[in-house]
Amino acid sequence: MFRLPELPYPKTGLAPFLNEEQMSFHFDKHHKAYIDNLNKFIDTDASLKGKSLEEIVVSSSGGIFNNAAQIWNHTFYWFGLCPQGKGGKPSDSLMAAITKDFGGLDQLKEKFIDGGMKTFGSGWIWLCADAAGKLSLVSTSNAAVPFTGGGPRPLLTADVWEHAYYVDYRNARQKYLETFWGHINWKFVSDNFESNQVLSLTKSMTA
Ligand SMILES: [Fe+2]
Repeated sequence: MFRLPELPYPKTGLAPFLNEEQMSFHFDKHHKAYIDNLNKFIDTDASLKGKSLEEIVVSSSGGIFNNAAQIWNHTFYWFGLCPQGKGGKPSDSLMAAITKDFGGLDQLKEKFIDGGMKTFGSGWIWLCADAAGKLSLVSTSNAAVPFTGGGPRPLLTADVWEHAYYVDYRNARQKYLETFWGHINWKFVSDNFESNQVLSLTKSMTA
C-alpha cells in the first residue's frame, strides 16, 4: 500500500510560487486521490501486491496505470522543487550536458517553457537523459511517463495539468512555468543525471 510522500519543504515553503491553497488542492486532494485509487486496485488485485510503484507503472494499463503513473509523476514533481533561492545550480557534468545539447541554461529554460506551453491539454513537460547522457525534452499527455517502453529517464518535470496552477495563476500557464524555473532543486536534477537510472520513488511512499 502506498501513502503520500513527505515533502522536502513545508507546505507553505514554495510560496508565493505555489501558495497554501494551491498546495492543499494539488497535494492533499489530487495527489492523495491517485494514491487512494491505486490502493483500492491493490486491495482487489493480488498480482499488484508487493510490486514497486515503478514495476506497476511499467507493467499496467488503464486505470491502474493512470493512478500509479500519476503518483510517480507528482512525487517526482514535488521532489524537483524547492523554496526560492535554495535550488543551487546544476552539477558540472549536468551543466556540460546542458551546454552541449541546448547551448546553455537560458536556452534550456526557454525550450522547457515552450515545451510546457505546447503540451496540449493535460500533461507534463520533462527534462530527460538517455543511457549515453544525451538530454532531451519530452512532453507527455495525461498520466504518461517518459520511461515506459525503454524511454529516457526523467531528471525534472513540470506538471502542466490546469489543476497544478489554476488556483494561483488561473489560465497563465506561461507565468506559472517561468516562476517554476526559479524553484528547481538542481541537486535533485543533477543526482538524477548522474545516477544513470530511473529514480525509485517507492520507498518514499511505503511504510
Ligand atoms: Fe497534478
